[in-house]
Amino acid sequence: MALIEVKNLKYSYDQKKPAVDDVSFEIEKGLYYTIIGHNGSGKSTIAKLIAGLLEKESGEIIIDGMPLDRENLYKIRSKIGIVFQNPDNQFIGSTVQDDIAFGLENHCVPQEEMDDIINTFAEKVGMTKYLHSEPTHLSGGQKQRVAIAGVLAMHPQILIFDEATSMLDPQGKAEIKKVIMDLHENSGLTILSITHDIDEVVTSDKVMVLYEGKIAMFDTPEEIFKDEKTLVKLRLDVPYCLKFANELKKYGVDPGHEITTEGLVEKLWQSSLKK
Ligand SMILES: Nc1ncnc2c1ncn2[C@@H]1O[C@H](COP(=O)(O)OP(=O)(O)OP(=O)(O)O)[C@@H](O)[C@H]1O
Ligand SMILES: [Mg+2]
Repeated sequence: MALIEVKNLKYSYDQKKPAVDDVSFEIEKGLYYTIIGHNGSGKSTIAKLIAGLLEKESGEIIIDGMPLDRENLYKIRSKIGIVFQNPDNQFIGSTVQDDIAFGLENHCVPQEEMDDIINTFAEKVGMTKYLHSEPTHLSGGQKQRVAIAGVLAMHPQILIFDEATSMLDPQGKAEIKKVIMDLHENSGLTILSITHDIDEVVTSDKVMVLYEGKIAMFDTPEEIFKDEKTLVKLRLDVPYCLKFANELKKYGVDPGHEITTEGLVEKLWQSSLKK
């Protein structure tokens, strides 16, 4: 059984064009999904619908066997953690520790358990040293790591990142991508990451491509990045690795199914050694 089942989901902010238009898909437990698509294609709206932050107009959302309706809303919300784009909007506490503790306090977790939980998750995101720091003194990447720790402390089954790296500098981006990859490999959590970062997409298990509120493609990164023309039509950036692979073909080197830069360089070496 899929962890998330979405059937004929529809949502409109106004009476004009639906932001999510009759979308159906399934999310398997433990996999890492990226969601891509042009600006306004409906990515954030789908994330908010799944997380119960917006109420669907029609269709079905079933999470862990439970329909997402008013009756199950709080049970389902507790299964999902969401991290947004702007690191400055995610802080509630006056220190890192308070911030990670915030959700726990709301769930009446006893103080003696709370310290252990805070330490565990601060360590998971590499922020133990900063537990007593003020959030304003942290870098964007560090703030996002604290936001992730706060979400993890609530023991969700599903993590949603809505462009969690897009406002960060290259170092912050790399830190957060590493945390996401580590969670994917070691935590068994199901991850949905909305991103414009093609390098991140390449490392995910499956990619959902949205176009004007509908699913245009839903496949492995290898399949999605096969066809440059389709990506251009969907108003997506053509990733560097795909341009590289296409250039190699022009010079008679077969890139096979390789989509990483390192793999393509290896193919190029092999081919030049054969000559
Ligand atoms: N609060 C809102 N009120 C009215 N319309 C909205 C609102 N939020 C989004 N929309 C519209 O709904 C559509 C889908 O928006 P959504 O934010 O889901 O797109 P997105 O794929 O996340 O885009 P981006 O890459 O810019 O974040 C767009 O046409 C957008 O203008
Ligand atoms: Mg968005």
